[in-house]
Amino acid sequence: MPATDLQLMEKIVSLCKRRGFVFPASEIYGGIGNTYDYGPLGVELLRRVREAWWNRTVVERDDVVGVDTAIIQNPRVWEVSGHVGGFSDPMVDCKKCKQRFRADKLQDARCPERPSKHPGECGGELTEPRAFNLMFRTHIGPVESSAAVAYLRPETAQGIFLNFLNVLSSSRLKPPFGVAQIGKSFRNEITPGNFVFRTREFEQAEMEYFVPPADARRWFDTWRAERHRWYLDLGLAPERLRLRDHEASELAHYSDATTDIEYEYPFGWGELEGIASRTDFDLRRHSEASGVDLSYFDPETRERYVPYVIEPAGGINRMALTFLIDAYGEETVEGDTRVVLRFHPEIAPITVGVFPLVKKEGMPEKAREIEAELRRARLATFYDEKAAIGRRYRRQDEVGTPYCVTVDGETMKEGVVTVRERDSMQQVRVKVAELEGWLREAVRGWRRPGG
Ligand code: GAP
Repeated sequence: MPATDLQLMEKIVSLCKRRGFVFPASEIYGGIGNTYDYGPLGVELLRRVREAWWNRTVVERDDVVGVDTAIIQNPRVWEVSGHVGGFSDPMVDCKKCKQRFRADKLQDARCPERPSKHPGECGGELTEPRAFNLMFRTHIGPVESSAAVAYLRPETAQGIFLNFLNVLSSSRLKPPFGVAQIGKSFRNEITPGNFVFRTREFEQAEMEYFVPPADARRWFDTWRAERHRWYLDLGLAPERLRLRDHEASELAHYSDATTDIEYEYPFGWGELEGIASRTDFDLRRHSEASGVDLSYFDPETRERYVPYVIEPAGGINRMALTFLIDAYGEETVEGDTRVVLRFHPEIAPITVGVFPLVKKEGMPEKAREIEAELRRARLATFYDEKAAIGRRYRRQDEVGTPYCVTVDGETMKEGVVTVRERDSMQQVRVKVAELEGWLREAVRGWRRPGG
């Protein structure tokens, strides 16, 4: 990794902690590997990314509905899905430092010995690769016997397959249709995570789109394009996004075609989201194992078939990290460094900062009144009266607030405020009575600077 990129990642991690996006979990006990907590601004960012995904995938469509399924299912589910037998990474152990590494990612891994080297270079012998299952095991009930073993789900998708018939019979949908879910998944990840890119618990946003087998390829192409478009619409730099088709040797056991949407992170190109053609693998396996027929009878064509599935699967935390990295910018303004997060206003944790120009002449009271009004209208606001106005703008730039409203002398006399725009730093005068509408219009019409 070039030094500048390493520094960029360090700056982002430090900004996240300082401004309340992401904190290391269990920090007062020394932390716990690959695990993070989200602070006040981080939780808002996650919520907005989740909402943007749900709106686009479910609310704006008439062919997709949602479910929310259990994290701990009958353990048979994971045997039948192939996760008990196959959901593993090849791992090697170092006999000297006792650390475990992914055999296929040795070049990216560092040995804990100082000075840190690649695994094996510390003089320790590496074992032969062994399969290490990524699922977290637990026990149901008071006795830790093998009969009571259960698993924390490693993907939300299976909960959707298990409810295929329930959704079909309760919703009047017929293929092609989709079932979406957002929820926590768990994987016992061993490799270093690059901040929140890879963690042990994370939130997935997945959608299983059930189609007649003959239409699978067409729908695969449609969802590939739609998911790519979504990231562009939310402002990601087109040149840092690419679609990469999997080689046959890379395909998961259930898939006959997969495309990753990849992003160019400071640590290199990495998977942001996967779109998989899962064939009829899951429904067929669950039909066979449970004895419940999960096929669909089309009354118009009088054909019975097991639907094929197209699955766009992303991680909410990874999406949020990607938006954060992509939004990060530094520039010199009047001799000072301005740090700015150029979030799309729809995902910015705060939409509008409200400031009195000075702490007198009734300005704080007026600013609080305007802020309360915008808050009641469900705009995310932040009131600030501390420090010079320039410093207040910078504090909001650093957390990605797209608009700041300043109450000044003219507000008191003529009922107009100054709205300062984050990206261009330009200021316009807006009537207080028209402020909410102006802000909503600006959020809707936002375009990536230079895009
Ligand atoms: N149901 C298919 C499936 O789970 P996946 O590629 O293993 O496919 C889908 O996961 C997405 O979930 C990934 O593209 C990534 O965004 C997210 N994801 C997977 N493992 C993750 C981890 N350990 N930490 C954060 N996000 C993860």
